[in-house]
Amino acid sequence: MRAIFDSHAHYDDKAFDGDRDSLLSAMEEQGVGRIVNVGASLETTKRTLELTQKYPFVYGAAGVHPDETGELDEENFRWLEWAAGQEKIVAVGEIGLDYYWDNAPREVQQHWFRRQLQLAWKLDRPVIIHSREAAKDTLDIIKEEGGRDHAMVIHCFSYGVELARKYLDMGHDLGIGGVLTFKNAKKLKEVAAYAPLERILLETDCPYLAPVPFRGKRNDSTKISHVAEELARIKGVDIERVLEVTWENACRFYRV
Ligand code: NI
Repeated sequence: MRAIFDSHAHYDDKAFDGDRDSLLSAMEEQGVGRIVNVGASLETTKRTLELTQKYPFVYGAAGVHPDETGELDEENFRWLEWAAGQEKIVAVGEIGLDYYWDNAPREVQQHWFRRQLQLAWKLDRPVIIHSREAAKDTLDIIKEEGGRDHAMVIHCFSYGVELARKYLDMGHDLGIGGVLTFKNAKKLKEVAAYAPLERILLETDCPYLAPVPFRGKRNDSTKISHVAEELARIKGVDIERVLEVTWENACRFYRV
């Protein structure tokens, strides 16, 4: 079996406090070759840095999730810039807009979304986008900030084919994970059928969004094989092919 590249994970999460090291130490023998651990706050970016230093196959992304943008100010933003420039930090993310939770005021989310996009351009890093129930504003800000010319993945893609086409036309990639295996994920299955395999990154978003038959349980990178299986079925290719192409996609995107 080909190796798995988990393009989006959160092993800093407290859900892994009990067995983080034994779980990560066993990844390679379980067929997981590379993982990008994604920061979602200043604290989790710091823990992401530590994970990249401890495990050779773990890379990281530095960024503050829209829910957490209330913690940002000019001083800690300078720290974030430093973190994003570290050697094994291969992307800025996850950043964007979340109008489902509205945890921070929308204008605060938008301000720091723009600032973090500008940071990514400055450091020449690809960007991991989080966008929930904020389709129009996300796209508008990306366009206004010149995102067309930069590598970007729309993580945990949750919109329809029409918006997928817009992002693919701009040259961006789509992140797809456990939701693809859910019975009620009709929209995402349509997107997966529509998007070229060469433009899809496989991700867990673990500990969240475990695929069937683990739905509702703690997710981890080994379970991506169930997502790959479903994607292979949708694409009419074998799972080896899906793992091979998505591995190449993630290496291209993160430049590793
Ligand atoms: Ni995430």
